[in-house]
Amino acid sequence: TTGAVTLDSGYGNTGSCKSEITFIDGEKGILRYRGYSIEELAEKVSFEEVAYLVIWGELPNQEQLAEFQAKLAKYAIVDEGVKTILSGFPRSAHPMAMLGAVMAAFGSYYETTGDSEEDILRIIAGMNSLAAYIYRYRRGLPYVYPASGLSYAGQFLHQMWGEPTGEPKVNSVVEQALNKLLILHADHEQNCSASTVRMVGSAHASLYASISAGVGALSGPLHGGANQAVLEMLEEIQNDGGDFEKYVGLAKDKESGFRLMGFGHRVYKNFDPRAKILKSACDDVLEDLGVDDPLLDIAKKLEKVALEDEFFVKRKLYPNVDFYSGIIYRALNIPTEMFTVMFALGRVPGWIAQWHEMRNDPTGRIHRPRQIYTGATERSVQPIEER
Ligand code: SDX
Repeated sequence: TTGAVTLDSGYGNTGSCKSEITFIDGEKGILRYRGYSIEELAEKVSFEEVAYLVIWGELPNQEQLAEFQAKLAKYAIVDEGVKTILSGFPRSAHPMAMLGAVMAAFGSYYETTGDSEEDILRIIAGMNSLAAYIYRYRRGLPYVYPASGLSYAGQFLHQMWGEPTGEPKVNSVVEQALNKLLILHADHEQNCSASTVRMVGSAHASLYASISAGVGALSGPLHGGANQAVLEMLEEIQNDGGDFEKYVGLAKDKESGFRLMGFGHRVYKNFDPRAKILKSACDDVLEDLGVDDPLLDIAKKLEKVALEDEFFVKRKLYPNVDFYSGIIYRALNIPTEMFTVMFALGRVPGWIAQWHEMRNDPTGRIHRPRQIYTGATERSVQPIEER
């Protein structure tokens, strides 16, 4: 049980729901997918295994994993028509805007029910290819088709950086780091974007429309867009002579409207367990890749000052998943504007699992929160000459 939360079957006015997918204890900093701790999953399995676990409830055995990987490789080939959608965007359009729009139309290329296993595979594998296509399109580069025998992370790296004619070139350190990042983002119970996917799906909109809406919600800088906002904040501090204490001071001044990106969380009132894993992964990945990123030094100084400052301590504002992830993505040479797309690639199994859980709930109803009306009491229309 999750204690004080008043649970309501399906959706009622509480806006909360029952779920068997992800457990979070915000006070203790615990995160588990289907009962497995994030710490163990991040170290021991692939993202494909986590996606399978989150969606179907159990870790796959070798035969199930091999079959799942073969299907993902097949569905990584997306309809050529999506290139026409992409070509309609200005190259400067944000990758999340492009991803959300393409996902809304993606199902139209296929004769499916919209909620079958095939749709699940098309969305997971297809989004991976679409993310790489978006990267290539924004740079005017030729698209790179999927290659066989690659992991999910490897397939993305191949299609993002591979040469149209070359063999897959995937660096194992980069692939392993991306695999861990994807696992850490796979689900997070009723966060803003997952709730959006549930809300849209509760109207019996298609899985594609619901995922598209989830992409939109995730793009917000208070949510998934924070990973890009963290890097932009660290770069601003670096360009401002590295004066990180000035920015801590700004964050404490309500008038400034400034927030330290990557800090705080609605649920975690202790360290976000994902941030802990990413903080140590940061050091390992940068060392393995021989990257010396001054932004990491600024991040660590910022974290230290904030964790000792009364304003942050009193409000239990700790680094969250977005605080360190951007530094790793940057070390992997993934451009800043693609960071939130990477978050979406990791999160899509969670969105799919939660959408199906909601749609399979026999007591499920359309999500229709009520309100407390604070507007004008009843009044009559005055003729316009008297208004
Ligand atoms: C994600 O929900 C999920 O699970 C999300 C996520 C997932 O996996 O799906 O974990 C991913 O979205 C992580 C969060 C990424 N966002 C950021 O890093 C943006 C910066 N953080 C904040 O804007 C904020 O902390 C939120 C949005 C994350 C949480 O907002 P809350 O719970 O609504 O907190 P709040 O806005 O009510 O703030 C409480 C107090 C306020 O001060 P007081 O009014 O009490 O004086 O804390 C202050 C806030 O001003 N505060 C901050 C702050 N975050 C909260 N002050 C400075 N810097 C911050 N980052």
